[in-house]
Amino acid sequence: MKVDVLLGLQWGDEGKGKVVDVLTPGYDLITRFQGGPNAGHTLEFEGKKFVLRSIPSGIFQGDKINVIGNGVVLDPALFKAEVDALEISGHPLTERLKISKKAHLILPTHRLLDAAYESAKGAGKIGTTGKGIGPTYTDKVSRNGVRVGDILYNFEEKYNAAISRHKEILKQYDFEYDLASLEKDWFEGIECIKRFDLIDSEHYVNDAIKSGKKVLAEGAQGTMLDIDFGSYPFVTSSNTICAGACTGLGVAPGNIGEVYGIFKAYCTRVGSGPFPTELFDETGDEMRNKGFEYGSVTGRPRRCGWIDLVALKYAVMINGVTQLIMMKSDVMDTFETINACVAYKINGVETEQFPFDLNDGAEPVYVELEGWKTDMTKIQSEDEFNEEFNAYLNFLEEELEVPIKIVSVGPDREQTIIRYTE
Ligand code: GDP
Ligand code: IMO
Ligand code: MG
Repeated sequence: MKVDVLLGLQWGDEGKGKVVDVLTPGYDLITRFQGGPNAGHTLEFEGKKFVLRSIPSGIFQGDKINVIGNGVVLDPALFKAEVDALEISGHPLTERLKISKKAHLILPTHRLLDAAYESAKGAGKIGTTGKGIGPTYTDKVSRNGVRVGDILYNFEEKYNAAISRHKEILKQYDFEYDLASLEKDWFEGIECIKRFDLIDSEHYVNDAIKSGKKVLAEGAQGTMLDIDFGSYPFVTSSNTICAGACTGLGVAPGNIGEVYGIFKAYCTRVGSGPFPTELFDETGDEMRNKGFEYGSVTGRPRRCGWIDLVALKYAVMINGVTQLIMMKSDVMDTFETINACVAYKINGVETEQFPFDLNDGAEPVYVELEGWKTDMTKIQSEDEFNEEFNAYLNFLEEELEVPIKIVSVGPDREQTIIRYTE
C-alpha cells in the first residue's frame, strides 16, 4: 500500500488532529514527519479534549502503531509531559509509539537561542512558538545536531559539545538564563524517551508499505508556513508540504497515495507576517469568538480573515492535493454574506498567481457569496446541506479543481461528514 498524507493548506491550525483521529480506523500506522512541539493538534471525543504536540493523532483509536519520524524535532521535556498526561488519562503508549533514531533533539539551549534570536529581531520578530524549532533545524542542517539515536551512544560528549557551542552564541546576544533548571526536566525527558522503541523508522515504514499495511502521514503547521514556499521569512523551519513526508519518513515519491489537503472555511494565522485577507473588524472578532480561535497551547489569539483562494490554489499545486477537507463550516453559519479572495492586487496590477514576496502588500480582490444561515453543528449527512452551503462547496471545488470529500461541522469526532464518492 501507499502512504496517504494529510496536511494543512493554510497557516496551520486547520483541524489536522481532529481529522487524523477520524481517519485513523482506516489505517495501521500513523506517522508524524516534520515539525515538533510548535504543533498543537486538538482532538475532542466523548466529552473529552486532548491537545497533542509531538505524538501522532492516531493514539486514541484502538491499538494502531504511531511513529515519530526522522523529520520531527523532539523536545524530551515536553514529550514527557505529553506522555505523562496521556498515561494519567488512561492511554498507555509504550506498546503503540515508536520513535525514529534519526529524529533530532531540541536541546534546552535551543529554546534559549529561539528566545534570544526573537528578541534581537525586535519589531521584525517572527512570533515563533518559542520551542526552539528554528535553532534545532539550523543545527541539523549545519551538521551540528544531536539525534535521538545518540542517546544510546556517546551521548554526554555530543550533548556537552552542542551546549558549549550554544553558550558561546548566547554570550554574544547578552542573553541571561538559568540552564540548570531547564536541564533537570530535559534529562528526565531523556529517561522517558528511553522507555520507547527507538527504531530505524525508514525501514519500519517501508516494511509496512511492502507488507500491505496502510500508512497515514500527519502534517504539522501548514503550507503557508513551509520553509521554501510559505510567506518567508515568517514561516517555520521545516518542509510542511507533501514532499516533507518523503524526506521526513524516508518514503519514495512513488509511494505517496492520497494527499488530503485540509483548510478552514475561512482563514487564520498566529504570529507575525503577511495575511492579505485579515479582518480587523467585528466580522474577524466573530470568527475568533465563534471559532474559538486561540492557540491550542499558547492561548495566543489567532488572526482571522476570509478564505484566500490565491494561497489555497498555490497550496493545492505544491502538494498535489487529491482530496480536500473543509473545516469549521459551523463558525460562519450566521453570516449574511461570505467573501472569498480570488485574486490579489499588487502595485495596482491584479494577479491570481501567488507572488514571490507576500510582504510587498497584496490587496485582496473578493467575490461575495450568500451565507448559509443555518445551524450546521447537528447536521449528520450531506443531504441536509442547504442550497447556499452547497453553492459555497461547488464554488470552491470549481476554483480549486479538487473535490471536497469531508466537511467538518464542529470540534467533536462525530461532527464530521464524509461526502458521497461518485
Ligand atoms: P491543528 O493544529 O490543525 O490540529 O488544529 P488545532 O487543534 O490547533 O485548531 C483547530 C481548532 O478547531 C481546535 O480547537 C479544534 O477543536 C477546533 N475544530 C476542529 N474542527 C472544527 C469544526 O468543524 N468546527 C469548530 N467549531 N471547531 C473545530
Ligand atoms: P499546528 O501543527 C499555527 C507559526 C508560529 C510562527 C511561525 C514560526 O498546530 O498547525 P516556530 O515556532 O515554528 O519557529 O514558529 O510558525 N506556527 C504555527 N502556527 N499552527 C502551528 O502548528 C504552528 N507552528 C508554528 O506562530 O508564526
Ligand atoms: Mg494547532
